[in-house]
Amino acid sequence: MVSAPIVALNQESAHHILTIAPPPTGLSLRGTIRIPGDKSISHRALMLGAIAEGETVVEGLLLGEDPRSTASCFQAMGANISALNSERVIIQGIALGKLQEPTDVLNAGNSGTTMRLMLGLLASQSGKFFTVTGDHSLRSRPMPRVIKPLQQMGAQIWGRQQNTLAPLAIQGQSLQPIHYQSPIASAQVKSCILLAGLMTDGQTTVTEPALSRDHSERMLQAFGAKLTIDPETHSVTIFGGAKLEGQTVIVPGDISSAAFWLVAASIVPDSNLLIENVGVNPTRTGILEALAQMGADIALENSRLVTGEPVADLRVKSSKLKACTLKGDIIPRLIDEIPVLAVAAAFAEGTTRIQDAAELRVKESDRLAVMAKELGKMGAKITEFADGLEIQGGFSLTGAEVDSDTDHRIAMSLSIAALQAKGESTIHRAEAAAISYPTFVETLKKICQS
Ligand code: S3P
Repeated sequence: MVSAPIVALNQESAHHILTIAPPPTGLSLRGTIRIPGDKSISHRALMLGAIAEGETVVEGLLLGEDPRSTASCFQAMGANISALNSERVIIQGIALGKLQEPTDVLNAGNSGTTMRLMLGLLASQSGKFFTVTGDHSLRSRPMPRVIKPLQQMGAQIWGRQQNTLAPLAIQGQSLQPIHYQSPIASAQVKSCILLAGLMTDGQTTVTEPALSRDHSERMLQAFGAKLTIDPETHSVTIFGGAKLEGQTVIVPGDISSAAFWLVAASIVPDSNLLIENVGVNPTRTGILEALAQMGADIALENSRLVTGEPVADLRVKSSKLKACTLKGDIIPRLIDEIPVLAVAAAFAEGTTRIQDAAELRVKESDRLAVMAKELGKMGAKITEFADGLEIQGGFSLTGAEVDSDTDHRIAMSLSIAALQAKGESTIHRAEAAAISYPTFVETLKKICQS
């Protein structure tokens, strides 16, 4: 008798339905896997490659929808970027300040990073005019966080709803340096201002309340920009006027994608996975610390530095998880992993509390509301607060029909919950995973063993 597949994907319409049916005897997750390139680093490699002089070679680029949006925007402004059909991409840069005025609207798709970082560059292209839009989700995400500091630098930006939402129009100007005290710990805000600062005649400083991911700082320095960093005050200063030169960037695997397997192998009994080539930049490893606190069995092997970014292989084995409290400075270091951490919490003994995470409400979806609702459908005891979640763990989950709300991280987090739920789950609009992890279902099928 041929047993029914554990994982099946129905792609008959634009909305994919992922079915996950763990056998009644349970399954285990085993094998050695690689995850796609880091999304944040991929965006930055494409952007810096486009504004640097000479050739940039990117190895390990994420071939997801989000970096494709970045590539198409910069192609429309004159950068010569080789086809994104291989993880090795070559960019002939067009030099800082020489972006061409595009003949059409720039479309950032679902990608907040594309829109917000790019705005810093567009605002400083003197004499050129740009219009920028995005998909339904991105057109509802707040833009004042970047528009306001850019306006302080002299930028001219207009948008819907009193300059708060895309579509946006930008008339490039010569910008002034500023010292900006950001009210939120956001790498998108910080990076936008640093990129705008590149084109000013002076020093631009961004101070944030807690340290956010520092990939821009690392890569800008590698491309030849002059930066000073004060870790005590979470401040970065960029000196305008530098000449950027094309580089080779080797993109590590995305720890935010590895997070799904770290949680999956922790909660599914008798699992043992080796995840190779994962970026372990300390501004991103909050997930490892949170899972360690919860009693997960994760070991770092073969730690190394690859083109300025720390990388390691991660070995994860199943373990009995216990609840934890997550709040304060660790939040920006695991912000994208909170949906899957909520899944881990549902299977952990005790009550997990996640606080200071109101930013999740303005991601690709309102992740606090959507996780509470969708995980709730599987029987999780999860309560939503203004700035976080409380999850009473240790109760078994039941397979259910759930929906991604078109958010990639929600689609994948619910899939992980389904692996350890009783009975079949169907995840609607599972195609969202392709934003950051186009091969997610393939890897899921590969590691599931009954
Ligand atoms: C990102 C920064 C984070 C993160 C996003 C990617 C980046 O957003 O959630 O997925 O590449 O700079 P915020 O800067 O809004 O916190």
